[in-house]
Amino acid sequence: MTDMETAVEAPAARTVELTVNGEPRSASVDPRTLLVHLLRESLGLRGTHIGCDTSSCGACTVLLDGVPVKSCTMLALQAEGRAITTVEGLETADGLDPIQQGFHEEHGLQCGFCTPGMMLTAKALLEENPDPSEEEIRWALSGNVCRCTGYQNIVKAVQHAAAARRGEE
Ligand code: FES
Ligand code: FES
Repeated sequence: MTDMETAVEAPAARTVELTVNGEPRSASVDPRTLLVHLLRESLGLRGTHIGCDTSSCGACTVLLDGVPVKSCTMLALQAEGRAITTVEGLETADGLDPIQQGFHEEHGLQCGFCTPGMMLTAKALLEENPDPSEEEIRWALSGNVCRCTGYQNIVKAVQHAAAARRGEE
């Protein structure tokens, strides 16, 4: 092996243990692995999308201990011991999450590429603020880009979910 080959040798794999959608999960990862790649490739949770890889679009948004993060900007190892929620974790035995129902009822998507990230960001907003104004919804979603909808129905979807969570629907 030449000196050059030695210099680019991959670092040793490490094991990351975390909770994903309520289940304990673990995987062996290259320390350089991004969280989004752990979720999609190692754990098979392909509902988390990759739109840009530069922290611009929000398609990769997941909840980290309930807080929205762009999983293309985090190393998988940084999620050690933390709880991750992906779009696959929104539906429960009781049915769709109100935010999923809101997107369905208000036609809050077209191609759907941005939708998982939008829904997780919105879910976190409603946990913190059960009755957000339109401006607060738009501000909360400002890190999530949609190329299709013009955002109006996304805002309506979040308002629908907020009302349902308050028992008004
Ligand atoms: Fe992460 Fe676009 S893929 S912000
Ligand atoms: Fe297509 Fe948002 S529905 S990017």
